[in-house]
Amino acid sequence: AAGKKVAVLGAAGGIGQPMSLLLKDSDHISHLSLFDVVNTPGVAADVSHCNTRATVTGVAGMENIEEALTGMDVVVIPAGVPRKPGMTRDDLFNTNASIVQSLAAACAKHCPEAMMLIIANPVNSTVPIVAETFKKAGVYNPKRLFGVTTLDVVRANTFVANSQGWNPRTTNVKVIGGHAGTTILPLLSQLKLDRQWSDDELHALIKRIQFGGDEVVQAKNGAGSATLSMAYAGARFTTRLLDAMHGAKDVIECSYTQNNVTKLPFFSTPVTLGPNGVEKVHEFGALNAVEQANFDSMLPDLEKQIAKGVDFVHKN
Ligand code: APR
Repeated sequence: AAGKKVAVLGAAGGIGQPMSLLLKDSDHISHLSLFDVVNTPGVAADVSHCNTRATVTGVAGMENIEEALTGMDVVVIPAGVPRKPGMTRDDLFNTNASIVQSLAAACAKHCPEAMMLIIANPVNSTVPIVAETFKKAGVYNPKRLFGVTTLDVVRANTFVANSQGWNPRTTNVKVIGGHAGTTILPLLSQLKLDRQWSDDELHALIKRIQFGGDEVVQAKNGAGSATLSMAYAGARFTTRLLDAMHGAKDVIECSYTQNNVTKLPFFSTPVTLGPNGVEKVHEFGALNAVEQANFDSMLPDLEKQIAKGVDFVHKN
């Protein structure tokens, strides 16, 4: 089958490099276009030596971005500044909002039909920024825009599997909402457990899934936030989408997309992926009392974070 062309923007970074390496291993990618403001030719030369299908190019500098984006089917964006200890994902807002807006404007111009996969944080706000930027350019298609919340699913699968003695690879926890702290809502009540959790265990598990990123920020002690696990999650979501673009059926992943499952414009819920992006948005199913309370209290926060992204584009 004809392969797809995939661009990684921010490819020289802590997430971008390992994610580019993982994507080089996909048989569905015919060309991998690496872009960053620095160092991309070196990363591209290095990754290009792996004996897999994708040809690799690396371009640096905003003045050369047209070359990186022309003809792309999929664009993944891990560009931005990472978190330092004490920072929340929201603290990154001003710097990353500008970076994402400028990259989105370039994509709207040079590859308006591409699937847009957003990793740059705060995802709750950067996804609306991309949507508004594409709307301004008159090229927005909500079926092609995804906030990558896969790391929340990956973490939930790992922590739940470890606690239940399950295989992490085949554990599949549904995680809905947004991609920051208490906006992350793992639906543990829908799992068929082998061992019931006490209330304390359950509470600790939910907190660990919601704040797993902070564990990494603290352990890295000033050197940044999650990069390797995020690269793994980003590559997983991208390759699942590529499988669906190549005709695989029933590819369902949780992703932060525009939909009507809640009153908010953007919400992470399971979606079926297809050749044109979002094929079907799924309801997330029953919540127990604790999950319902968490859901009710987080909606206003998520709503504010979405509005913050929308306002940013309208003011700039
Ligand atoms: N265009 C392309 N790349 C850019 C731009 C831009 N306008 N601005 C910055 N970058 C690049 C940097 O040069 C760097 O190579 O983005 C990369 C970011 O890498 P790191 O600083 O190592 O940060 P990383 O840990 O990879 O996190 C990046 O992902 O999870 C989020 O919160 C995180 O938003 C942050 C982003």
